[in-house]
Amino acid sequence: IDPSLDLEDEIARLKKERNAILLAHYYQDSDIQDVADVIGDSLQLSQAAAKTTADVICFAGVHFMAETAKILNPDKIVVLPDLDAGCSLADGCPADKFAAWKAQHPNSVVVSYINCSAEVKALSDYIVTSSNAEKIVDHIGPDKTILFAPDRNLGAYLEKKLGRKMVLWQGSCVVHETFSERKLIALKTRHPEAKVLAHPECEPTVLKMADYIGSTTGILKHAIASPLKEFIVATEAGILHQMQKAAPEKTFIPAPPEANCACNECPHMKKNTLEKVYLALRDLEPRLELPSHLLTAARTPIDRMLSLS
Ligand code: 13P
Ligand code: SF4
Repeated sequence: IDPSLDLEDEIARLKKERNAILLAHYYQDSDIQDVADVIGDSLQLSQAAAKTTADVICFAGVHFMAETAKILNPDKIVVLPDLDAGCSLADGCPADKFAAWKAQHPNSVVVSYINCSAEVKALSDYIVTSSNAEKIVDHIGPDKTILFAPDRNLGAYLEKKLGRKMVLWQGSCVVHETFSERKLIALKTRHPEAKVLAHPECEPTVLKMADYIGSTTGILKHAIASPLKEFIVATEAGILHQMQKAAPEKTFIPAPPEANCACNECPHMKKNTLEKVYLALRDLEPRLELPSHLLTAARTPIDRMLSLS
């Protein structure tokens, strides 16, 4: 790329030229968030993908998110700036093992967190996100056995919240499992006024200390609406950008990981860069493609989710 190019201007120009929409998750680098048409959590981004009239969707997020956009728009071009932007939850739930697990529990209702592959979606009855999981699981008759995959922490959180046992796939997120209860306790003693905001993918020991638990959008809205001034944020650090923008007078402290590392940043989300967003819009590559049988089979549980949201 010519270093004299103004990437922000070029991206704006290409979006117009291609009739493209740029969707970005809160975990993207702030420079990507700043040029996006829609920034949101998984549900909002799926809803935006479902209703867009653009010809091209550039999805600044991870593979399963772009896949969902493609399933909702089989005839549109969907590009993901870096096709290798995966997700530890989706990667930890291969479709063949998932199918075998499902076969061990016949007559169950299969609920899958949106952080899974299109193949796993195709084997599921309902897709949920962190912002609608409670409502959708609650909608399933109490006489049914529910299989919930792949995040065991969100699953356990729902079990507790709804007072209902489910069969849980034992997956977890590499980012959210690094938050440390021990360091959080130490941080709380230094900031006794600070409220802990946590994503339900965190371990139960961290969720136990949370004053609010919700999706990325839920956490952001809660922090903005609260009359309080200081928050410890137990989710990927990318969310802090919109928090600081919306409430510059408040203090947001990222929750500490156990090791001294930048592991509160998602290595998959961070594969996308502003340069790669520019290239994806310029070249309309790399594209998300899925076989037609998967596009059809994975759509039903996503549509069920959208109509219940
Ligand atoms: P949200 O849907 O809450 O934005 O979560 C997405 C995700 O990948 C969390 O790690
Ligand atoms: Fe997946 Fe975790 Fe990254 Fe979210 S933060 S995309 S769950 S690896």
